[in-house]
Amino acid sequence: MKNHLPVSRSGRFAGSPGAEVAQFTESISFDQRLWRHDILGSLAHAAMLEKIGVLTAAERSAIARGLKAIACDIEAGKFRWQPELEDVHMNLEAELTRRVPAGAKLHTARSRNDQVALDLRLWLRDEIVSLLSEIADLQRALVTLGEKQAHVLIPGYTHLQRAQPVYLAHHLLAYVEMLERDSARLWDCHSRVNVCPLGSGALAGTTLPINRVLVAKLLGFVDAQGQPQLTQNSMDAVSDRDFAVEFCAAAALLAVHLSRLAEDVILWTSSEFNFIRIADAYTTGSSLMPQKKNPDVAELSRGKAGRVVGNLMALLTLLKGLPMSYNRDLQEDKERLFDSADTVRATTRLMAGMLRHISVNDRECLAAACDPVLLATDLADYLVRKGLPFRQAHHLVGSVVALAEKSNKLLSQLTTAELQSVDKHFGPDARSVFDLKRAMSRRNIVGAPGTREMAKQLARWRKLLS
Ligand code: ARG
Repeated sequence: MKNHLPVSRSGRFAGSPGAEVAQFTESISFDQRLWRHDILGSLAHAAMLEKIGVLTAAERSAIARGLKAIACDIEAGKFRWQPELEDVHMNLEAELTRRVPAGAKLHTARSRNDQVALDLRLWLRDEIVSLLSEIADLQRALVTLGEKQAHVLIPGYTHLQRAQPVYLAHHLLAYVEMLERDSARLWDCHSRVNVCPLGSGALAGTTLPINRVLVAKLLGFVDAQGQPQLTQNSMDAVSDRDFAVEFCAAAALLAVHLSRLAEDVILWTSSEFNFIRIADAYTTGSSLMPQKKNPDVAELSRGKAGRVVGNLMALLTLLKGLPMSYNRDLQEDKERLFDSADTVRATTRLMAGMLRHISVNDRECLAAACDPVLLATDLADYLVRKGLPFRQAHHLVGSVVALAEKSNKLLSQLTTAELQSVDKHFGPDARSVFDLKRAMSRRNIVGAPGTREMAKQLARWRKLLS
């Protein structure tokens, strides 16, 4: 390269951009992480160029060898990234051409516009697969904790007020369900990421007789039936970032779920709840108060949802009103996409680690779950079984609760006579409603926190996740 001009400026341009402009426009500082996928794309493109006679077999193998040698150098930290070459694509191409003259033919029928779309899709495809395995691992951590503490009961809450007793496992499995929907969304997103844009050129394809199907197959852009998946409109293909938006949206919802789980952990470790203890490794102290042990990992997991939601907003705003087709604005997609992927991956992973290092205070949990008022609804169901309309039963049990409060007794301490003073339908068997074990054995419809149903759900998830 003469005068150290960036490749894209050779020929038409008289000089280099000023340092400030170069710094403003470069993307190498953040898109270099695409190098592996850029090289993979180039290897497939070169194979195709040989097939159609643009490269000789010798040129193609020299290019392949050159790219692999560059990959080794990058891996070993020996590659010198040059900011004046703008981005990962031009850094790799320039270095290849310096080493292998045939490298100058590699960009035949290709633009950085379809190249960057390709790289992003290849990168995101891998990212989704590894995120899915982290999510499955977090689900396993939740199921394992549920299994280990299968006997533990806690109050279930609505409005953050004690409502009805549930097994801790039931509460944990609620998150397993949420995470399963996150996985399904990510898989769905994967099917639209997995479409090959290469061959779209800058925006209008190419006059050369390239073979897009071959490239798609080489790069694994095929559906479940092995059919190659190609973008069908070159202008759309170079400017489409819907797949990135979809990923960021799925990541945002995942982050929101993780923040809810984090919040439960934070509440449960507080002295007010005291249901669980987090291992020291996942907590930090206070620089001032010697007694403190703070659940920082959980707090940051909760907090990081903010940036992941923000990344989604940034991407949508970036795309809004963009004219056809590629615009340099699109370079701004990467840091948001990378940040969402990195953040949800790390959070998912750390949450799993933290859950594996939690101990449960079963005594505190049971003490909270034993509050007989949590079974007031069961008492209403008792009256329904005696033939009363539920509305009336609800009203009567309300009066019973008021009576207990007035006489300073627990609900379960009221005598049969006291219950009958409210309504004669209360028989001597009414007080057996407050037997917690029995109460839990009675909630066995699908999705309920009953003893048998909970065991069934734990077994179902154990099987699904193994
Ligand atoms: N770094 C650019 C991006 O991330 C690559 C494509 C640049 N294309 C161009 N014609 N300037 O979008």
